[in-house]
Amino acid sequence: MTSVPTITLNDGKSIPQLGFGVFQIDPAETAEAVGLAFDAGYRHIDTAQMYGNEKGVGDAVRASGLDRADVFVTSKLNNGYHRPEDARDAFARSLAELQMDYVDLFLIHWPLPTLYEGNFVATWKTLEEFASDGRARSIGVSNFQVSHLERLAAETGTVPAVNQIEAHPYTTNDEVRAYDRDHGIATEAWSPIAQGAVLDDSVVVKVAEKVGRTPAQVVLRWHVQRGDVVFPKSTTPSRIEENFALFDFELDDEDIQAITDLDRGEKGRTGPNPDVFDHIPD
Ligand SMILES: NC(=O)c1ccc[n+]([C@@H]2O[C@H](COP(=O)([O-])OP(=O)(O)OC[C@H]3O[C@@H](n4cnc5c(N)ncnc54)[C@H](OP(=O)(O)O)[C@@H]3O)[C@@H](O)[C@H]2O)c1
Repeated sequence: MTSVPTITLNDGKSIPQLGFGVFQIDPAETAEAVGLAFDAGYRHIDTAQMYGNEKGVGDAVRASGLDRADVFVTSKLNNGYHRPEDARDAFARSLAELQMDYVDLFLIHWPLPTLYEGNFVATWKTLEEFASDGRARSIGVSNFQVSHLERLAAETGTVPAVNQIEAHPYTTNDEVRAYDRDHGIATEAWSPIAQGAVLDDSVVVKVAEKVGRTPAQVVLRWHVQRGDVVFPKSTTPSRIEENFALFDFELDDEDIQAITDLDRGEKGRTGPNPDVFDHIPD
């Protein structure tokens, strides 16, 4: 079976560079989808409190017969629980849903700078507690812009292990990626194929024809060669396998550049801008 490269985080832990995302997978169908991903070889699952399907992820891990230590599980703090006492309760609920005594990585899902008096620093300090008691092996953030990361650096002692941000050919997000790289933060690219929107792009299709791979494989390979962590989502068995087959071909510099040049900046986002996003799910 293909072996997925690992990336060493700034806390010494390692993370498989390719995982499986479960955003928008129905809670009732999550265990089956994650089971298919395990069969295909994935050992890294990206879930969140907001997705409502942590239980399905935990069920799949137990049903797989894999050792807990051989699976990397990430979850994320939901937007309604940024206050420290709420974050502590919510984190305990995540572990209960997953039926696990630790997660490999726990993230602040969104910075929410316009809520909670903009105090994501207090939330981050609460995640530091989960890291120090071992219930979160690594901690990080998601959707943090450079200004948010600069504030954490100025006001706290720990550097996030990862920053999970929207990144794909239409929003390369290279400014945040450069900050991450320069400060030892691993970048995780969410919606790596822009939920499918980049797959018909003529440049992507042309590179795919040239290397004899599918558009999705080419775009995911572009992320891998940029050094980012990715976890495409699919509930289609053939695509789950297709998205895992990324390590037996390479793109040349010209292909990489042609795909990077598709960047549309802010206009290319599929999701909201983190500076203004303030949604609290019910
Ligand atoms: N931190 C955050 O704020 C945040 C936000 C969004 C996402 N994420 C994470 O990132 C993960 C991935 O992002 P995403 O789920 O938004 O989008 P994505 O992985 O870019 O795209 C998923 C979509 O593409 C389709 N697809 C998957 N593989 C394909 C292939 N080989 N060919 C054609 N179509 C394909 C899927 O359809 P089918 O399922 O029908 O096959 C699904 O509609 C999420 O699951 C989640 O873990 C995090």
